[in-house]
Amino acid sequence: PKIVTRAILASIMMAVFGVWLAVISMKARPIGVIDSGLGGLSILNTLTPILKNEKFIYLADHQYCPYGDRTSKQINQRLVAITNFLLEKNCKLVVVACNTITTTSINFLRSIYPAIFFVGTVPAIKPAIEKNLKENIIVLATQKTVSSEYFQEMIFNLDKKGKVHGIASPGLVESIESGNLKIIKQQINKIIKNIKANYSAIVLGCTHYILVKDIIKKLTPFNVVILEPSQAIAKQTCKVLKDNNLLSNPTLKKPTTFYLTTGNPQKATQTAKKLLNDSIIFDKCSI
Ligand code: DGL
Repeated sequence: PKIVTRAILASIMMAVFGVWLAVISMKARPIGVIDSGLGGLSILNTLTPILKNEKFIYLADHQYCPYGDRTSKQINQRLVAITNFLLEKNCKLVVVACNTITTTSINFLRSIYPAIFFVGTVPAIKPAIEKNLKENIIVLATQKTVSSEYFQEMIFNLDKKGKVHGIASPGLVESIESGNLKIIKQQINKIIKNIKANYSAIVLGCTHYILVKDIIKKLTPFNVVILEPSQAIAKQTCKVLKDNNLLSNPTLKKPTTFYLTTGNPQKATQTAKKLLNDSIIFDKCSI
């Protein structure tokens, strides 16, 4: 009986050890951050300083950028391929650092991958309304975001006074991806000049626009508030990790990030350097 007891104890210990190992390795898994291109770096840059012990995989789907001109079916197809790739890399959570993907596909993604945590990015309309500003609120976003049911529903639910106006800015994502500051400035100037309504705030409803926030700020009247959601997304990501006991153990000294693109890695590296003054290096990934 003593041997039997010992054997039972040993197997219990093994099982507990196995569960502990599984929890540890679950926590150590990377976080995926996705966008059609470089825009999501604006979100990643608010995640890394507060999640110092995490590993990140940043994935830019440059080959299919811009998503703003694509159909929902095309975006969903890309998202399935990308999510499967991130699952192969063992990601524990995916930050959708793109308004276009979130407003078009996050419900679809959550329905087909119920076991994965997705944190989405939507225009900061709620905080803008909560500021009780005098004039209108302009949301600059892609055509796809502005015309999405998700976005229209957000406005319907939040904007009781009819102050929020979505404005599509076609071509701006491509200009930002080109890294040509002169063209970017010209284009933003044109978009701003075309706003007919009086406005107190501009909500940046595309993560690419956050990369050129300073240019937008300079080209708008000084009293206009510019809002973007990156800090809120970082906070929400921390909360989901904490609530689900998925925060990495503090073993790493600083976050590690792998930068991947389905497009041209040299070009992505150069443009990221120009826009963010960040020496990050992209690698090619075929999805
Ligand atoms: N960064 C994406 C967003 O937030 C850009 C979309 C695009 O590729 O057109 O909407």
